[in-house]
Amino acid sequence: MKGIILAGGSGTRLRPLTRVTSKQLLPIYDEPMIYYPLRTLLTAGIKDILIIIAPDYAGDFLKLLGSGKEFGAKFTYEIQDKPEGLAQAFIIGANFIGDDNVTMILGDNLYEDDFSQAIRTFKSGGRIFIKKVPDPERFGVAEFDDQGKVISIEEKPKEPKSDYAVTGLYIYDNTVVKKAKSLKPSTRGELEITDLNNLYLKEGTLDVAFVEGEWFDTGTHESLFAASQFMRGKKLSKNPN
Ligand code: DAU
Repeated sequence: MKGIILAGGSGTRLRPLTRVTSKQLLPIYDEPMIYYPLRTLLTAGIKDILIIIAPDYAGDFLKLLGSGKEFGAKFTYEIQDKPEGLAQAFIIGANFIGDDNVTMILGDNLYEDDFSQAIRTFKSGGRIFIKKVPDPERFGVAEFDDQGKVISIEEKPKEPKSDYAVTGLYIYDNTVVKKAKSLKPSTRGELEITDLNNLYLKEGTLDVAFVEGEWFDTGTHESLFAASQFMRGKKLSKNPN
């Protein structure tokens, strides 16, 4: 299993914080944001990791994370020239992925859960993780049938069909590269991860699991603040001095 951290994008919603740096380098309490998704992969046993970054602050990521040796891992870097969508990661990362399966985590998604088991038991198809949220219109949203089975996913729907957001950790088999290459840009000009998930869903190979602990998409000032506050509480309760 290989890992990808997608840490590009322009972070426009967080300006002026992101005027001179990248969103994923901003602090969450006492660490840069990207440390948290990185730790999620490392804890799950993924040590071969591709970090996809935007051209502007590429040097800062390299300076912060280096070769990966310090983390007991191996890091590879690729530049995404323009933010042309989450699913583009699998085209940019095609050589890195090779013949393996891959877990991708978004560089601005913070989880409390340990995904070791979910990754260890993964065999084929795709596996995504959903969470009940108060503001589903900000996310990819799952639609369920009467039996509670997910039947479709919609990206940022105006009228969400449920309160369950698709969160930013995705486990895919090797067919993801071919599937990503078959996608067409959406009306907002991006290769959508939701379209990719719907391909797996149509094929009948998408497994949907629930996020049990806290989860943050730190794309807004509110969620950035809430994530810092949560991580501070967690760290101080573990280590009160
Ligand atoms: O957080 C989960 C959500 O992430 C999902 O529910 C949505 O289905 C998915 O589309 C995505 O929505 P966001 O609105 O949060 O995506 P955003 O544009 O903020 O990008 C997520 C991260 O990926 C962010 O750290 C920037 C990075 N990114 C984004 C794009 C579009 C890239 O590195 N390259 C890109 O092309």
